[in-house]
Parts: sequence; C-alpha cells; structure tokens
Amino acid sequence: MATAVSTPNIAFIKYWGNRNQELRLPAADSLSMTLDSPTVEVSIEPADTFSVHSEKELSANEIERFKKHLELTNIYLKKLNFKLQTSNFKLTIHSHIPPAIGLASSAAVFSAVAKTYTELLKESGIELTDEQTSVIARLGSGSAARSVMGGFVALRCHGECAIDSAFAVQVADENHWPLHDIVVCPSLKEKKHGSTEGHHLAHTSPHFNTRLKNMLRRQQECIDAILQRDFEKLQRVAEEDAQDLHKVAETSNPPLQYLNSETHRILHEIIALRTQKHLAVLYTMDAGPTVHLICTEDAVESVKDFAYTQKECTMFETKVGSGAKTRIPAKF
Ligand code: PMV
Repeated sequence: MATAVSTPNIAFIKYWGNRNQELRLPAADSLSMTLDSPTVEVSIEPADTFSVHSEKELSANEIERFKKHLELTNIYLKKLNFKLQTSNFKLTIHSHIPPAIGLASSAAVFSAVAKTYTELLKESGIELTDEQTSVIARLGSGSAARSVMGGFVALRCHGECAIDSAFAVQVADENHWPLHDIVVCPSLKEKKHGSTEGHHLAHTSPHFNTRLKNMLRRQQECIDAILQRDFEKLQRVAEEDAQDLHKVAETSNPPLQYLNSETHRILHEIIALRTQKHLAVLYTMDAGPTVHLICTEDAVESVKDFAYTQKECTMFETKVGSGAKTRIPAKF
C-alpha cells in the first residue's frame, strides 16, 4: 500500500489545447506556482479488480478516466522497461478541494496518484525521477504534471508526439519567492464543461493560433519575472495570458463561458483597490468563475481583507507549496 498527499497549482501561463488528446500532450508550454493547500490524499493497494473510492460519488466517466490513466501509465513504464507489481488496484481518495470550480482538483488528484504509483515501484527497487513521475501525472491531467514539484514549475513540451514528450521542470523552489494565492470562489456549483472538453475545442477558436504564437514569448517573460522576483512583470504577463485563455474559450465552437458576472465584479474591484493602495496583487482564473489573487507578503493582509468582504464567496488562503509527497505510514 502507498499513500501520497498533493495540492493544486495555479498557472500564470496556462495550458489550453493539446497536440495529442489521448496522451494529454499540450500544444504549448505552461508555468505555475504549486500551492500548499487545500490537500488531496490518495492511497493505493493491489486488488483483484480496479476500483476507485471517494467521499464524492464518481461518475462512470470519472472512473473510466482513472482506468485509462493506469493503462497509459503501464504503457509509459513499459517504455522505461519497468512494471508495476500487479495490474489492478483499489484507489482511495480523500479530497479537501471542491471539484470543478477552477481550483485544479484534478491536478492535485493525479499528481498524488502518480506519486503513489512511483512509491509502489520504489518498493520493488525502482526509483523514478520527479520528471518521470510528472509524465505519469500528466497522463491523467496535463496540469497535474506541475503539482509533482514545489515552487514554480514549467511544463515543457518537445517536438515529438511520444508519450514522454512533455514533462515538468522546476524553475525555482518554494523558498525562492514567498507569494500567496488568496482564492475567492463565487460559486461551488460544478462547472458544466470540464477543461478536458476545453482542450478538445481550443483549436476551433479563431484566436488559438495567435495564442500559440504569443505563448513562447509569454513563457520566457514569466520565467524571467519569477527568477528576478519582478512582480510588475509577472502581473502583466499572467493577466495577459489569463485574458487570452478566456478569449479562446469564449470564441471556440461551441463557446465555453467559464467566467460569470461575479468574477467580473471581483476583477473590477481588485483593480480599483490595487491602483488606490499600490498593492502587489495580480488576478488569474482557470476554467471556472474562481478568482485567484496572487500577491506578495506586503500585500497579503489587504488582499485577505478584500476577500473577506466578498459576500457569499468561499475563500481559501494558500501560499507557495512544496509539491506532492509520499506519506510514510506510522510504524508500531
Ligand atoms: O490539467 P487540465 O486538463 O485540468 O487543464 C488545466 C487547464 C487550466 O487550469 C485552465 C490551465 C492550467 O494550466 O492549469
């Protein structure tokens, strides 16, 4: 049996659209900050049949996604000349993350699942690197590759369409820049269209090719901003990328509308507040109405005060975290 704990990440340069849908090979590089909370714990044990257990009732499609993930993991391990001890598992998931609201719950889940498979391999004397573990995480959810590592993490793509043609690389660790993410969720209602559907439709937007062209520049600007701890530069590039992703989603066929009037109200208010108080805070939104307010230590108290005044919103106070970890069972 193996247990791992992981967390979401928030992307500054967002993954949207695939080169290969089945293998979840992204169309472009992306970059995120791993968060320290909320957590997901996944345990895995060999079993006669494959099953997934969680507090939330899982749909047949969701269970199929875990099965498919194991199938792809076995294909990848075969390429490395490795093998899991058995072919079936019982997976148990305890999640503190509301699903499907733009808080990267699948990133936390699949990075934890990848870590448990890695731990099982370790028991048979096989050590995978973090990059290899990130490939396994990516096969379940592209963004999950980045939650395997802590701090600031890039998901890099290579020219080919092989199963391991995209993996995560740490740009800077969690001690590099103590940024916070104050997460404001206007609604905990699950979104109608998941990001998997969004990736499928991305290429139908007339803006998608322009997005891809701009992403190379944005990725490099974001890496520079992080390495130089230049918040203004990070704000410019992260907000540009978030707006661009939603422009692509909203113009795809059919269009996907993840943001709502509450999201836009929160954005207007935080922009007014940051101008008035000269706060180092930036906004970004994933595939949901949730607003992530990324800020420095100096700005965090004002940003929290702002977030607490948001009526009927759920809030999460998070900061840069250290990535997926194996939980060693207590010895008696
Ligand atoms: O990993 P997925 O398939 O859930 O896609 C993640 C998509 C975004 O959250 C919108 C962007 C990102 O890079 O995290």
